[in-house]
Amino acid sequence: MTDKKGLHLLLIGSGGREHALAWKMAQSPRLGKLFIAPGNAGTAHLGTNVNLPTGDFEALGRFVEAERIDLIVVGPEDPLVAGIADYFDSDRAPRRVPVIGPKCAGAQLEGSKDFAKAFMRRHNIPTAHYRSFTADELDVAELYLATLRPPYVLKADGLAAGKGVLIVESLHDAREGLRRMLHGQFGAASRTVVIEEYLDGIECSVFVLTDGDGYFILPEAKDYKRVGEGNTGLNTGGMGAVSPVSFANEEFMRKVDEKIIRPTLKGLSAESIDYRGFIFFGLINVQGEPMVIEYNCRMGDPETEVVMPRLMNDLVELFEATAHRRLQDYTPKIDPRAATTVMLTSGGYPEAYEKGKTISGLDDPRLDSAIVFHAGTSVGSDGAIVTSGGRVIAVSALADTVQEALRRSYRGAEAITFEKKYYRRDIGFDL
Ligand code: AMP
Ligand code: GLY
Repeated sequence: MTDKKGLHLLLIGSGGREHALAWKMAQSPRLGKLFIAPGNAGTAHLGTNVNLPTGDFEALGRFVEAERIDLIVVGPEDPLVAGIADYFDSDRAPRRVPVIGPKCAGAQLEGSKDFAKAFMRRHNIPTAHYRSFTADELDVAELYLATLRPPYVLKADGLAAGKGVLIVESLHDAREGLRRMLHGQFGAASRTVVIEEYLDGIECSVFVLTDGDGYFILPEAKDYKRVGEGNTGLNTGGMGAVSPVSFANEEFMRKVDEKIIRPTLKGLSAESIDYRGFIFFGLINVQGEPMVIEYNCRMGDPETEVVMPRLMNDLVELFEATAHRRLQDYTPKIDPRAATTVMLTSGGYPEAYEKGKTISGLDDPRLDSAIVFHAGTSVGSDGAIVTSGGRVIAVSALADTVQEALRRSYRGAEAITFEKKYYRRDIGFDL
């Protein structure tokens, strides 16, 4: 991985998504050197983990200069919303480099739900009816709530680590939640609250890589957000995922392309928002019609852990094409097989959990037919791999059928052990 002619890439992030991106990039003959900041115990095998504060753009800038980085790939949303892509396209950066990920303006699709809803309204993109309110509009907000039918959907405008959405059955609970949010439950993130109509349907996620002109549709996926089996309990970052999604057939995807993807890209360009990076469309199928639940300005986690195994194009080439606006030259090559992933988590997650538990079984032969993506792991002082997060390891697999892929993921999930390991045993149950 030290070929001088190859590209020097810096990947930002430390989760299962980043391990899956690194795994895919490492397969590219275009790759020279790969650095991951900060990375995890899994990415350490694919490149060099560097312990840089990813919110400190100056520190990143010095590293990018020193290592002659050619391209930065950003995994999570926070650095994008904070302006990492703006920084590396400005004179403030010691070396200007293309970033895979939008600038602040584009990242608002995820960073502000109020912006995203107004954007969809401006561009006629199907989504739930809504209104937004600030604290001095509490009375009107309560009146608006009373005009809606339950369940009630309330969303903090800004980033709230996946906790900013409240869905409740009673008007009383909705009013209480509204007051709590507007009175600072999520700090600045809930200074504005979006109240929207509840949509009933099955969800799936569609991912697009765009260079602002061309776009490339990646395999769709479905994730399982609730911690408990049968989709019960608290929301998490995601407990597992599958791809493809059976209801996302050709006709549905044609509607997604025509009514959602194209109008979104056209809208960005009409508003002079230079968007180069991933767009994650969180969709819901309402009686055969796709509607947008949310946008994210990055790939999903754990969806990336099933999308990357199915992508047959060279990811580094796609990133170069994105940076240089040549994406329209590429056609997606997607493995027709099914991919699944099962997330092993620390008992207690998404609430309090312990870290530092030794992980064993990573060399078990039952993992031979699986792909292991580390999420929250690190290398302990004695060299052992230990848990360092709520979501610890995603066990992915590819097979001719979803059932066989799940069987492989679950065999792998059994083989890996650590104290208080927990995982859902029903990923894909509804398909
Ligand atoms: P969000 O962070 O906007 O994706 O919301 C989190 C989850 O809440 C989504 O994945 C949906 O399951 C659910 N949700 C959000 N908005 C709605 C809605 N308008 N109708 C039904 N469910 C929703
Ligand atoms: N798995 C959902 C997300 O990445 O937001």
